[in-house]
Amino acid sequence: MVNLHTTIGSFGFDNVLMNASGVRCMTAADLDKLADTVAGTLITKSGTPEARTGNPSPRAAGLPFGSINSMGLPNLGIDYYIDYVEKFQEKHPDKPIFLSVAGLGPDDYHVIAKKIQASNFTGPTEFNLSCPNVPGKPQIAYDIPTTRRILDDMFSFFTKPAGIKLPPYFDLTQFDDMAAVLNDYPLTFINSMNSIGNGMAIDPETDTTLIKPKGGFGGIGGTYAKPIALANVRAFRLRLRPEIAIIGTGGVTSGRDVYDLILCGASMVQLGTVLGIEGLGVFQRLTEELSAEMAKKGYTSISDFQGKLKTLD
Ligand code: DOR
Repeated sequence: MVNLHTTIGSFGFDNVLMNASGVRCMTAADLDKLADTVAGTLITKSGTPEARTGNPSPRAAGLPFGSINSMGLPNLGIDYYIDYVEKFQEKHPDKPIFLSVAGLGPDDYHVIAKKIQASNFTGPTEFNLSCPNVPGKPQIAYDIPTTRRILDDMFSFFTKPAGIKLPPYFDLTQFDDMAAVLNDYPLTFINSMNSIGNGMAIDPETDTTLIKPKGGFGGIGGTYAKPIALANVRAFRLRLRPEIAIIGTGGVTSGRDVYDLILCGASMVQLGTVLGIEGLGVFQRLTEELSAEMAKKGYTSISDFQGKLKTLD
């Protein structure tokens, strides 16, 4: 029998799969439905200090090999999600839930972290430093000094389990530079990666961008993202302190895709585009496909192959 149990810091999960923040997790009803699947756990939509309606529609579209979105962080506000996770942890002490939060600028992270620190929530918080879709706002984690400033401030008072959601990086020096920053802080995990920011898709009938916000620029997810997600997970696993776990996100449509992210070093795998398109049944399908892939290789647990990618040199 195959066992899909995994850990992030001191938290244990019965399945490596969970949703990616932003997909089917906006309301308490959405979150309750995620909790009823075979997924190991769930994460909220990124909560911002105030509730937001987000960008004008159309703001998301399916593409032949994935998706484009510029939602613009529509969410019910951080207080709503803190309230949800506080109640959830009472009801489900065996299923640690993740809280996702995002600032619209660097200073928001101070306010957000103070609120979480003062709350009764004891689970892991994912600080989203990589949203590509708020007009006029850069992806914070592409700015190394600002990232360091946020983490310096946060860890001067924040004592709860924390991780950060990163954008994709492309040059090996970017991995070196960002890993050097991350290794300086008591992070429990990173999540690599967010959608690939500022891609574009065009409707050939009308010669018009598929989505409206920001002149058609938006985050790309799905199969397009897979090689980049694998490289990001692998590059960070080779550089981060072993105590910092990696959540792998990007490009999953099959059990083999989940397997590949784990092979590169992921401890958990999040589903974004495929969950949006296929719905909640995807967790059962991918659980079966991953289990079959592991059985084929003679593996019975995640640790049998986690991080054990082979290279040709
Ligand atoms: O692709 C994304 N879309 N990443 C985020 O971090 C936020 C989300 C949105 O709301 O635009």
